[in-house]
Amino acid sequence: MRRLLPGFNALPEENIPERAEPRPLPTHVAIIMDGNGRWATKRNLPRIAGHKRGVNSVRKITRHAKARGVRYLTLFAFSTENWLRPTEEVHGLFDLLRYYIRRECRTLARDGVRIRFIGDSSELPADLQSMIAEAEALTATGEAMTLIVALNYGARGEIVAATKRLAARVEAGELAADAIDDKMLSMEMYTAGFPDPDLIVRTSGEQRLSNFMLWQAAYSEFLFVDSHWPDFDEESFDQCLDRYCLRDRRFGGLRKSG
Ligand code: FPP
Repeated sequence: MRRLLPGFNALPEENIPERAEPRPLPTHVAIIMDGNGRWATKRNLPRIAGHKRGVNSVRKITRHAKARGVRYLTLFAFSTENWLRPTEEVHGLFDLLRYYIRRECRTLARDGVRIRFIGDSSELPADLQSMIAEAEALTATGEAMTLIVALNYGARGEIVAATKRLAARVEAGELAADAIDDKMLSMEMYTAGFPDPDLIVRTSGEQRLSNFMLWQAAYSEFLFVDSHWPDFDEESFDQCLDRYCLRDRRFGGLRKSG
């Protein structure tokens, strides 16, 4: 086995100070659903078969997150960079989203789950844009949980657009540049009004953010799990919550005893 350099840890978790008392559950969990393609390739199936199975996980984890009392669940469904994939896969993903919205919306409304989409919807097919608007309207009164689907979402684009809107107000003389603070910038993000994610999970073993929630993740806890998204189930989610509850969050301050 390759020797680790001094200061490197085989299991990064071991280095993270744990709390003596578990902390409360996260209010907002965000998931980078990775590994659908690998799941399918391992089974000699087309990549879209992995995405299809991924929709099952979306359904299961949404129901379970709500049952566990999570108030906000964000799922990264399509990034602004995912247009680089073959057209067939992109269209396949949009078809799955149509299928999901058509099939799930009433159930979400019945269960008190409000669905919201973040990202640049103006670049999506027109019928999908209408479906998104209808789904948001149909579930708007849901109070049990907010399911946020990041679709054609890219964090750098989000930050640039937010900055431009504030700059335009400065240029128009409506806002003093000096008055801009982090709260004001937060209110210009797609996520305005939602709390920042307490926990960001990425499946499939990759350890990067891939242009996801760069602004909102300032103090998020991160968990990288090996399962591919189609294999990520209720038990995997519970394990993530358990691990989160043992993390010591200090937000730049000092460790509290207990
Ligand atoms: C990443 O796996 C996954 C995606 C880019 C798409 C995720 C979409 C879904 C699960 C279905 C639709 C979503 C909803 C909310 C209904 P990958 O294909 O990059 O995996 P790989 O790295 O193994 O190739």
